[in-house]
This record gives sequence, C-alpha cells and structure tokens, in this order.
Amino acid sequence: MTTPLRLGIAGLGTVGVGVVKIVRQKANLLAARTGRPVVITAVSARSRDKDRGVNLNDYAWEDDPVALAKRDDVDVFVELMGGHEGPAKDAIEAAIASGKDVVTANKALLAHHGQAIAEAAEDAGRVVRFEAAVAGGIPVIKSLTEGLAGNDITRVMGVMNGTCNYILTRMQDAGLPYEEVFAEADALGYLEADPNLDVGGIDAGHKLSLLSSIAFGTQVDFDGVELEGIQRISIEDIKQAEDLGYKIKLLGVAQMSGRGLEQRMSPCLVPADSPLGQLKGGTNMVVIEGDAVEQVVLRGPGAGEGPTASAVMGDVCDIARGLRISTFGAPAKGLQKAKTAKSNSPAAFYLHLTLLDRPGALAKIATVLGENGISIDRLRQTRHDDANAPVLIVTHKTQRSAIDTAIDAMAETGVMVGAPVALRIESV
Ligand code: NAP
Ligand code: HSE
Repeated sequence: MTTPLRLGIAGLGTVGVGVVKIVRQKANLLAARTGRPVVITAVSARSRDKDRGVNLNDYAWEDDPVALAKRDDVDVFVELMGGHEGPAKDAIEAAIASGKDVVTANKALLAHHGQAIAEAAEDAGRVVRFEAAVAGGIPVIKSLTEGLAGNDITRVMGVMNGTCNYILTRMQDAGLPYEEVFAEADALGYLEADPNLDVGGIDAGHKLSLLSSIAFGTQVDFDGVELEGIQRISIEDIKQAEDLGYKIKLLGVAQMSGRGLEQRMSPCLVPADSPLGQLKGGTNMVVIEGDAVEQVVLRGPGAGEGPTASAVMGDVCDIARGLRISTFGAPAKGLQKAKTAKSNSPAAFYLHLTLLDRPGALAKIATVLGENGISIDRLRQTRHDDANAPVLIVTHKTQRSAIDTAIDAMAETGVMVGAPVALRIESV
C-alpha cells in the first residue's frame, strides 16, 4: 500500500465543504489518478457544532488552525478560511515552518504577503499552491506556470470577479439600475462580507497581481494595480455603450512595457461581439498572450462550492503526484521587484458628462478637449427634461493622462455638474 497524502483543512465554509465532499466521494478516482490515497485527518473552523451537511466524524477537530497546521498527521495544510491577516496568515506560516506543503484559495493573503510566503516555503523546501485563488474553477495558474512556460508572456487580461460581471450583465439584461442589482446580488449571497472588495475592484485586483507575478517573473505588486470599481456605472452608461456596439466589463489588464509593469483593473468598454463582451453572469474569462502561443482564452465559473473545490483538488493532486513547482512559477528569490508604470497606452475613451444646459457649455468642453490634444470621434447629447444635459463623447485614441488633465480642466469651466465617467475602450 502506498503512503496516503494526509490533508488538514482549516475553514469549512463554501469551499472547505466542497473539498471535503470531493475527498469523500471520489476516493477511488483520486487514488487512481495520483497513485496514492488522499485522505483528510483533521479539520478546523470557528464553530464545532454547526451542521455543515457533511460527515466530519472521521476527522480530528482543532479549534485553532495554527494547531492544525502543526499536527504530525498532516502533510498538506489546506487553508480555506480567508482574510489577509490573522489566523490564515499565522496558520500558513506555521504550516511551512512545520514542514507542510500548503494549498490555499486566499487571493487577498497572497496579494499582500505572497513574496514572503513564497520565500519561506522555498527556504523550507515546501510548496504553496493557489489555483483556487484566481478565477475559481479555471486552471489559469497551471496554464501559466506549466502549459505556457515556454512563452514570453506579453499580456494577461480578463474578467476575474464574477459578482461584478453578474451585476453588469444583470443591469444590461433587465435594464435595472446599479443600486437595485447590487441589492439583488446581496440577497443572493454573491457579495463578499465587505462588498467593496467586489465592486471596488479590489478582489479582482488581488487576482491580477498574482497572475502578473507568474506572467512577468516579478514579485507580487498589488499596490501597483490601478484600481477603479463599478460603483459609478449607471444604467445609462450600459445602454449607451450597447448602442455604440460595446459592453461594459470590469477588466483587468497586465502588461510589461519599456516603462515597467502596467496593471489596471477598471470598468472598460469591450466590443459586444468579442468573447469578453459575450461573457455573462458569474463566469470569468482570462486571456493570455505569449510570443509563441499567440492567444489563449480560458473561460469558466469564477466562484462557488464545486468550481473552487475543483481547483483546490487540482493542487492537492499535483502534490500527491510529487509535482513541486515554485509558488509563482520561478524561484521566489529570483523574482524581480516590479517597476510600476502608470498605464498610458493609447485608447479611445467614452466620456459621460453632465453639463449645465446653457449657451456655450458644450463649446467650453470641446475647447478643453482640443487644448489637451484630444480629438472627438462621436458626440451625443441625450434627451433631458431638466436643467442638466447629459453629454456622451467618444474620443479618438488618446492617453489616460491627457483625459485626466482634461477632466481637471473641465471642472474649472463652471459648466460641469458632478464628475464625469471616463471609460477606456479596450481592443480585445
Ligand atoms: P466562508 O464560507 O466564509 O468560510 C470560511 C470558513 O473559515 C468557515 O468555515 C469559518 O468557520 C472558518 N474560519 C473563519 N475564521 C476562522 C478561524 N479564526 N479559525 C478557524 N476557522 C475559521 O468562505 P469561503 O467562501 O469558503 O472562502 C474561503 C476562501 O476561499 C477565502 O479565502 C475566499 O476568498 C476563497 N475563495 C472563495 C470562493 C467562493 O466561491 N466562495 C472562490 C474563490 C476563492 P465557521 O464556519 O465556523 O464560521
Ligand atoms: N467575490 C469573488 C467573485 C469570489 O465574485 O469573483 C471568487 O473569488
């Protein structure tokens, strides 16, 4: 009989229960695929009495996840609690120090402490795997670290937060305002405990920073991600974008330019008939471009019990098979510190302004754009009943810095009401 791989699972919520179910229900399949039994020896969560819908009687219980991480009968510490400080961090550090491999779904923790954790694992000769942390059930980490290892990666982009994609597509399909769909998403349990992690683009920014590290051989640089959420996207923007042949998506883009690493997570217009434009609901999509492969598009469920547990088990099976890959696909101490570059590659922009409806107002805005070298491609003033006129402008290609300077100057004209919405039109 070959030696079993023994898991200690900390966190028995959505993902943890999904992992327990797979280990219990697919014991034969897992043993056949990896060549050894995969078993759970111990578990931990906050409440021992909670009915989780799975039988946990066969496993030792630890109230303290750090104690679980140190147990002699655990080979792999599976961290499924969440949070970028506190118990998750303490327990992962304890697991590595105690000679355990680690599997985690915790994007926030790795976005903040990934480099230190990867170096600690390297020093201890352990592996830390995190497929479930990015794009749920899509094997994107495996694709980047293994399948595409022979490529210089030129760009990684995608939709990596299912909740935002649900909100934006539901607004589009039902014609409902942001506030109403946000409340719906809340009632359906789609939002993180702190909803700003989703709608503020932070969760997706965490994921993008992890992909960037693997793609470009740099240390994780979450602080270098330019973040903008979807909170200011109105149903009017969605309708106008559709009329122009676009969909609005919370899109992450990471690329290395001569100036450094550009990472941005922001709502963008993408062509309605593109694969990204057609992405619906909680589905995620990651597009990877490499010099040899050209373009690979990965699409799948971005969250939920089954898809996320599937990704966790992919990592567990790799460890059971003896596959030892550096956390970010290359030795941690060889990763370069990222040189952050503000993204400024030229693009057309969609501007939604509200102007006082009075003579010369539009002329003032057109003058500001002209003074900043921004040429207008299309312009529309929509129907309105009050003193404020909604104006939509699509620019020719320009740089974000020119748009920002122009927006500052528009505020000085005295004809603007509130701040404009400025969205990049992304070629995908
Ligand atoms: P969840 O449903 O909220 O479950 C969290 C679990 O952790 C609960 O069982 C909780 O115990 C336990 N826990 C929290 N603090 C603890 C502590 N101090 N000591 C011991 N146990 C503790 O979370 P989840 O949705 O499964 O997410 C888990 C991780 O996966 C997070 O990092 C999340 O970002 C990531 N993730 C989730 C999804 C998804 O679709 N849900 C997708 C991708 C990644 P109690 O049950 O007793 O309260
Ligand atoms: N809040 C995340 C999302 C969960 O909506 O994509 C999966 O990481």
